[in-house]
Amino acid sequence: MSAAMAAALALFSLLAAAWGLPPQLDPHFYDRSCPQAQQIVASIVGKVHYQDPRMAASLLRLHFHDCFVKGCDASILLDSSATIVSEKRSNPNRDSARGFEVIDEIKAALEAACPHTVSCADILALAARDSTVMTGGPGWIVPLGRRDSRGASVQGSNNDIPAPNNTLPTIITKFKLQGLDILDLVALLGSHTIGDSRCTSFRQRLYNRTGTGLPDLTLDASYAAALRPRCPRSGGDQNLFFLDPVTPFKFDNQYYKNLLAYRGLLSSDEVLLTASPATAELVKLYAADQDVFFQHFARSMVKMGNISPLTGGNGEIRANCRKVNRY
Ligand code: HEM
Repeated sequence: MSAAMAAALALFSLLAAAWGLPPQLDPHFYDRSCPQAQQIVASIVGKVHYQDPRMAASLLRLHFHDCFVKGCDASILLDSSATIVSEKRSNPNRDSARGFEVIDEIKAALEAACPHTVSCADILALAARDSTVMTGGPGWIVPLGRRDSRGASVQGSNNDIPAPNNTLPTIITKFKLQGLDILDLVALLGSHTIGDSRCTSFRQRLYNRTGTGLPDLTLDASYAAALRPRCPRSGGDQNLFFLDPVTPFKFDNQYYKNLLAYRGLLSSDEVLLTASPATAELVKLYAADQDVFFQHFARSMVKMGNISPLTGGNGEIRANCRKVNRY
């Protein structure tokens, strides 16, 4: 950044504070207070990615599940305590959300390097970006300066995070409530190009989609047949399946190609093609042009990361991402 631009930004921040506007996130937030922060996050994400290739997907999802509940404030990381019912118990997270130990490891390294400085919410945002890059996806500059919540909302987690059997209008509404539009929805769901789903999240499609005892006809019949042995009518709830069986560990646009072949694993994936012409057009665009997908994905991740952050004097910098600080 040029000196003139930096001066203009500094002036803007001063004026914003004087006008009572909330402080904005800023990619340079830790430049002085913890210049090594981004390097520390990237090196630990890189190490765990090498040990467990699924972890990139899990970390990317954590940021999403954080931001959709009370904003990007690391509320998802809090364990239950005398005053807190953990979001880890909610339907979308129970037996499903993972990666908490990795965030602990990053936090411990950051506390050692720069005590009480880098928030858990910013760790989630950086780890999501680094996970995308490490699996072959686009990079982006992460605005920083989020602070951590002093509470959690298991109810918000149950209600605000879309479910895999929600209709497309319900999903669109849940995104809209977060300030995200149809383009953000279709681009961000491209995250399902990596990672796993449990049988329980899509079983209904294999046997009884409409309550009539028929499988979901928008799921390719041979793909459904291949899924049934390890996802029977009952039992095997926790069995894992790749969301993108063609390139499961590569962040690419294969997800959209799968949708065009009626091989989207979740109902919430396939409806992007089958339930609205507007979303279907975007699916076709991203299937045809990976560069456009990457550009839109990066932009929408920044937008998602900006959902209602705590800044300035709000919230706190937790010493341990699992607990609020004691005063
Ligand atoms: C309509 C919105 C969405 C729905 C209904 C949805 C639903 C799901 C479900 C059901 C799973 C499998 C969970 C399990 O069975 O344990 C999953 C996995 C995943 N989701 Fe989504 N998701 C949505 C949007 C997103 C977004 C916006 C992102 C990221 C920006 C994301 C990233 C992921 C990733 C990476 C995984 C794999 C996680 C792992 O392997 O640990 N999802 N999602």
